[in-house]
Amino acid sequence: MSANPFAGIERGAPGTIGWRILFFNELGSTQDKAAELARDGAEHGTVVIAGAQTAGRGRLGRSWFSPQGRNLYTTIILRPTIPMAQVAQISLVAGVALAEAIESIALGIVQLKWPNDLWLNGKKAGGIIAQAVPEGESRRMHVLLGIGVNVNLTREELPPEIAETATSLRAETGREHKLESVAEALFPRLNTRYTEFVSTGLKPIAAAWERYSALTGQLVRVTESGQTRAGTARGIDADGALLLDTDEGMVRIMVGDVTVEGAYR
Ligand code: BTN
Repeated sequence: MSANPFAGIERGAPGTIGWRILFFNELGSTQDKAAELARDGAEHGTVVIAGAQTAGRGRLGRSWFSPQGRNLYTTIILRPTIPMAQVAQISLVAGVALAEAIESIALGIVQLKWPNDLWLNGKKAGGIIAQAVPEGESRRMHVLLGIGVNVNLTREELPPEIAETATSLRAETGREHKLESVAEALFPRLNTRYTEFVSTGLKPIAAAWERYSALTGQLVRVTESGQTRAGTARGIDADGALLLDTDEGMVRIMVGDVTVEGAYR
């Protein structure tokens, strides 16, 4: 482990998200390090942060661009007692907390694209994965909640394959941001929203999510397992599914990749 620039923002009693923050200068993926720590019994709320990732990964088998010192790469170990089927909802909960955190730094440019992309001025600046890991034969599990935020990448540093669709906090605000400040804005909000979710379910969070929704009212295409559907996004329901108004009626989308008609994404 390396000297920890995030030690100063550790906060709360054991079991609060961010009460313990482990920093590694370089990892393959924070997901893998967190998996190892969780297997060894790391408590709920333990956070892993990497300075760089050599094998950062996103949803649907994509890679996550993770150069040294530019962005926030973190995985939070969660030990929820919810049915496995609800784990995907945690990424919506995290999306709201992330949007609220970034909004506190950059007012008025933050949106969420279902299911779990952070957008700034209509381009992707962050993403979330929630990976459930069953524990042995028991019904217990833990969740590895991975969050990546492009903080100080310049437009020139974006790899060509994402240059049109991705952005960073710096590119959109015109100034650099301390990674510690972004983390300090994020973890307490995540703790609040997660606690709310565990005690009252997704309903209040779904309403907050809707305020940031980039898709509601937009004509979109959703691709899932090779099948594409087109329709107008009508928001999310109380389970976190995307409601798609299609020619065949309202369809609930649980998993999928969304493209906005007429946009790059
Ligand atoms: C996505 O939008 O596809 C999700 C991206 C998640 C990236 C983060 S960076 C920290 C954590 N470690 C990883 O390897 N991935 C997640």
